Amino acid sequence: MVIKSPSPGRLTIGVFDSGFGGLTVLRALLPLIPAAHYIYLGDTARLPYGSKSRETIARYAVSSAKFLHQQGAELLVIACNTATALALEDIQHALPIPVIGVIQPGAQAALQTPSPSHKSSFRPERSEVEKPASVPQVSGHNHVLVLATTATVRSHAYTHALNALGLAAHEKACPLLVPLVEEGWINHPVTDDVLKIYLTEALTADPATQTLLLGCTHYPLLQPAIQRVLTSLGHPLTVIDSADATARATAALVATHFPSLSVTGDPTTTFYATDSIEKFQRLGSNFLSQPLKEVHLLDLGG
Ligand code: DGL
Repeated sequence: MVIKSPSPGRLTIGVFDSGFGGLTVLRALLPLIPAAHYIYLGDTARLPYGSKSRETIARYAVSSAKFLHQQGAELLVIACNTATALALEDIQHALPIPVIGVIQPGAQAALQTPSPSHKSSFRPERSEVEKPASVPQVSGHNHVLVLATTATVRSHAYTHALNALGLAAHEKACPLLVPLVEEGWINHPVTDDVLKIYLTEALTADPATQTLLLGCTHYPLLQPAIQRVLTSLGHPLTVIDSADATARATAALVATHFPSLSVTGDPTTTFYATDSIEKFQRLGSNFLSQPLKEVHLLDLGG
């Protein structure tokens, strides 16, 4: 289906996240699809989504997506793992525009990423190894560990997507990581300690893990800490952040639906947040790696 954009050569793309994390996806989109106007919505008043029920997540995500469509979005990127895992189909049914999430691109990136050649010296605790691991029995060559919110893990959306590609998946809920990132503790001993506990538990459950997929848009900010902790555990892993993969998949979707879109341009942005503008600008600049000049306050109700 080829869609005619109201302003040929220019496209309005909506980008939605429960908060700031989706700005890492926007950061990857800007250079890849420069002839676009981006409208970003961070539903910060209702964050975190990751600890809520499927019904609540779907209600919040659909109302946010409808707002972006009303603002003129012709294509929507769900730059939130939890909303993608629990509500992608609801959003696709609610809107008459192409909608893409982060899980399928993230799983594809895991398939295409080579495993590290160096050997692990990680030794799981014996008592833990003897317990039956909750790793699906897939004869894939690559074992992928997915760190994500509780709701994303419960949905098993990543396991389904990775298994469909022949990869073995083990998902680990890390509910403490989003508040630590929100607090700005991205290089903090407490965060390293928390990561060490989560990663030790996950690697003990599946010592054959070769790839680590960051299944939450907050986690890319923790990449240096994650690498540090993996090194200290003697278990190097290839770490994948789905932001770049999602941006590439979005560019492919744009090429299909809007083939006349210029490949050059100067991207423009409008930001909406449902809670404190000051906090969104302060924290958001870390995720986007540039200042967020104008942010509008939005009330989407409860
Ligand atoms: N954006 C969410 C995700 O990627 C994390 C924050 C939340 O729990 O709302 O899963």
